[in-house]
Amino acid sequence: TSTTALSPITIRLCGPRGFCAGVDRAIQIVVLALKAYGAPVYVRHEIVHNRYVVEGLEAKGAIFVEELDEIPEEHRAQPVVFSAHGVPKSVPADAVARNLFYLDATCPLVSKVHKQAMRHQRLGRHVVLIGHAGHPEVIGTMGQLPEGSVSLVETVEDADAYVPADPDNLGFVTQTTLSVDDTAGVIARLKERFPNLTAPAADSICYATTNRQEAVKQAAPGCDLFLVVGAPNSSNSKRLVEVALRAGAKKSLLVQRAAEIDWNGLGEIRTVGLSAGASAPEVIVDEIIEAFRARYDTTVELADTVEETENFLVNRELRNIELTPA
Ligand code: F3S
Repeated sequence: TSTTALSPITIRLCGPRGFCAGVDRAIQIVVLALKAYGAPVYVRHEIVHNRYVVEGLEAKGAIFVEELDEIPEEHRAQPVVFSAHGVPKSVPADAVARNLFYLDATCPLVSKVHKQAMRHQRLGRHVVLIGHAGHPEVIGTMGQLPEGSVSLVETVEDADAYVPADPDNLGFVTQTTLSVDDTAGVIARLKERFPNLTAPAADSICYATTNRQEAVKQAAPGCDLFLVVGAPNSSNSKRLVEVALRAGAKKSLLVQRAAEIDWNGLGEIRTVGLSAGASAPEVIVDEIIEAFRARYDTTVELADTVEETENFLVNRELRNIELTPA
């Protein structure tokens, strides 16, 4: 091998990054359910949007399905876990009808949005949901209310085109993982058009989304490259890439594993930003830093903003399991 010195780079490692309290809890629920009830434990939808996490749980005996009818008759006594993104009301109802034992791993902050949507409706308001069509969280939030009582708005253009039946009786909620800045723009436009639009009693975008975006925004200026560890179907991770670009990173990419990085295509880099979406495990962040160390003379600089202390309890049925050592 050559003795040429490696070129120097600095990695700005953002904090907070990676797992949020809702993801951490959802993974714990599956692990504890496996411990308490034995394999297999069924999980409806990817528990969190990360292949590494899903494969790790599969190796322990979890089986992932998209719908409850995929659970075979002979396994009906085994628990089924609902993912962190939340589910329409029809899903637990369907589980009861099928005599299934379910454990709901919906993030408490998603449940809070569900409650706010229901509250708007109780108070006679038509619900406007700001979010991305097709995302499981959006499907879950829409499914808290009868069909036709929620209208989805994704963009400022949608806000312009939206024609409500009763413009004076509208209340909004949002997906928890949206871009803070884009959402403010959509809300501003809706309020311009519908001055009586009512905000939810508590913010819908969660603390983890807000904190990760803020940390990226602060670290991105001056970065030649900004890497976000996350999956292509992870909403909050995709938003971090957009935030990095908008805050001044020259280039930003979503990566799932170090092996995906096209080293030759990176060009001249000196400063690299690094963060991870709320569903991305820290081992992959480490893997990426190691991959840089193998190719560059790497200095890691911590770019921390706030400290997070959020921690959510698992379902009641599993709490005593948690206390017994493995
Ligand atoms: Fe919950 Fe926010 Fe994480 S809603 S699952 S804490 S990204």
